[in-house]
Amino acid sequence: AASTYQARFDAAVAADERIEPRDWMPDDYRATLIRQMAQHAHSEIIGMQPEANWITRAPSLRRKAILMAKVQDEAGHGLYLYSATETLGASRDELLDKLHSGRQKYSSIFNYPTLTWADVGAIGWLVDGAAITNQVPLCRCSYGPYARAMVRVCKEESFHQRQGYELLLALSQGTQAQHEMAQDAVNRWWWPSLMMFGPPDDASAHSAQSMAWKIKRHSNDELRQRFVDICVPQAEALGLTLPDPDLRWNEERGHHDFGAIDWEEFRQVLKGNGPCNEQRITQRRRAHEEGAWVREAAAAYAAKSASGGSG
Ligand code: 3HC
Repeated sequence: AASTYQARFDAAVAADERIEPRDWMPDDYRATLIRQMAQHAHSEIIGMQPEANWITRAPSLRRKAILMAKVQDEAGHGLYLYSATETLGASRDELLDKLHSGRQKYSSIFNYPTLTWADVGAIGWLVDGAAITNQVPLCRCSYGPYARAMVRVCKEESFHQRQGYELLLALSQGTQAQHEMAQDAVNRWWWPSLMMFGPPDDASAHSAQSMAWKIKRHSNDELRQRFVDICVPQAEALGLTLPDPDLRWNEERGHHDFGAIDWEEFRQVLKGNGPCNEQRITQRRRAHEEGAWVREAAAAYAAKSASGGSG
C-alpha cells in the first residue's frame, strides 16, 4: 500500500540515503525536483548569453579561450541537468516550452547586462561564486541524479570562479581606468548576486518542504550569509570595495552584517521587468528555432541507425 512506500521513502530520506529514479517517491517530491532542476538547467543555458556577448571582444587570445571554455561548460551543465530532470519523467521539449512561454523561471541574475569586459570577471567571481555556495550543498541532495550531477558541475564552477577572480585582480592592479572599470562592475553585480540565493527565509514558499525532503540542505539566508562572509576578505585581497555601507563584521554573530536587499527589484526582475528579460528570452527562442534542423537531423539519424538502415 502507498503507506508502506511512503514509510520506506521517509526512512530512506531520514537515513540520508539517495532516492533513485526507479524508487517510489511522493508526487510532490517529484514535482519539486522537476521544478528546481529544470529551472537550474534553464539558468545554465540562459547564463551563456551575458558572457557570450564578450567572446568576440575579449582583450587577448588567452582571455577569449578561457571565456569560450567557460560558456561551453555552462552549456554542458544545462545538458547534464536536463538529462537528470528527464530521469523524473519530464520531457526536455516540454521543459523548454515552459521556459520559452515564461511558465518556468531561470535565475534572476542573468537579466542584467554585461556592459564592460570587467563584467566577465565580476560574473566569474560573484555569480559563479554564489552558484558554488548554492551548489556544494546540492551535492548532498536526497535525489541521486541531481546530487551526482552537482559533483561534476561544482568542479567546473571552481575554475569559473578562479578565472573571474584572477581577471578582476589583473584589472584592479592595472591602470586607474582599469581599476575603476573593475570597481564599477562589482558595484553593479554585488546586490543581484545576493538575490540569487532566493527570497528571505520567511518569504520562501518552498524552503520548509524542500529542507524536510533534504533537497535544500541550508536555508536561503544561511547560504547568502555564507557567501557574504566568503566575499568580504576576497574583495579586500582584490583591492575593491563592496557597495554596501552597512557591511561590517559582527563579533558575537561571527558573521558580517550587511545592508537591506531591494526585494522590490527582485520581484520586478522575476515578473519579467528586469533590464534584459525580453532580450534573453527572445534570443533563447531564436536559438531554439534556428536549431530545429539540427534536432531533426539528429533524430532522423538516430532513427535510421536504430532501424539498422545503411549509413
Ligand atoms: N531567480 C529566479 N527565481 C528565483 C530565484 C532567483 N534568484 N530565487 C528564487 N526564485 C523563485 C523560486 O524558483 C520559486 O519560484 P517557483 O515556485 O516558480 O519555482 C520562488 O522564487 C520562491 O523561492 P523559494 O526560495 O521558495 O524557492 P526554492 O526553494 O526553489 O529556492 C533556489 C530557490 C535557492 C534558487 C533553489 O531553487 C535552488 O537552489 N536552485 C538550484 C540552484 C540554481 O538554480 N542556481 C542557478 C544559479 S545560476 C547557475 O547555476 C549558473 C552558474 O553556472 C553561473
